[in-house]
Amino acid sequence: MKQVKLLSREERGAAARWAADTTWSEQEKYLEDPGYMECVRDILEHPIFQSMEQYIQHGSTSCKAHCIQVSYLSYHLCRKFGWDYRMAARAGLLHDLFLYDWHTHARETGNHFHGFTHPRTALNNARKHFSLCRGEADIILCHMWPLTPIPPKSMAGMMVVYADKLCSVTETALQVRGWFAMTFLYRGKPVGHA
Ligand SMILES: [Fe+2]
Ligand SMILES: [Fe+2]
Repeated sequence: MKQVKLLSREERGAAARWAADTTWSEQEKYLEDPGYMECVRDILEHPIFQSMEQYIQHGSTSCKAHCIQVSYLSYHLCRKFGWDYRMAARAGLLHDLFLYDWHTHARETGNHFHGFTHPRTALNNARKHFSLCRGEADIILCHMWPLTPIPPKSMAGMMVVYADKLCSVTETALQVRGWFAMTFLYRGKPVGHA
């Protein structure tokens, strides 16, 4: 992707390390950035957005925390490159507003194609509760590219695609690391036993 090549190796490493720092979203450090908050305050404070706290996205990361990470990383990098950071920040927060537990979704509904269908579900939910510009709708609908065939039309959208992939891989890696530690480092020493 074009934007990935725009980042130096050090910058890509820094972005990956930042994405792995779960304390950033847990301690709500984004509240300390007035420029970011000016773009997204109405979404962050909305009960529908807050309800994503109950759904796990990857590992132990909630959908809410995942969307904040994707939104803030997209916002920060779009500002750096002079792209539409407000659109990236807002669409990043709403890109996974599908509002169900995707781990049990297939069993409960028979829909085995969450990866392909959730962008449309998220867009429909976002439209119900927020006023979206055309660019924001395009980013939400196309954020799974290249799994879905049509890429976002804007550079802000391409940045959300990049940030989503980076955060998803990092969250999954943290889960694997935790599983590895529990399986091998603590094997034979289950929690609660001497
Ligand atoms: Fe998604
Ligand atoms: Fe996502």
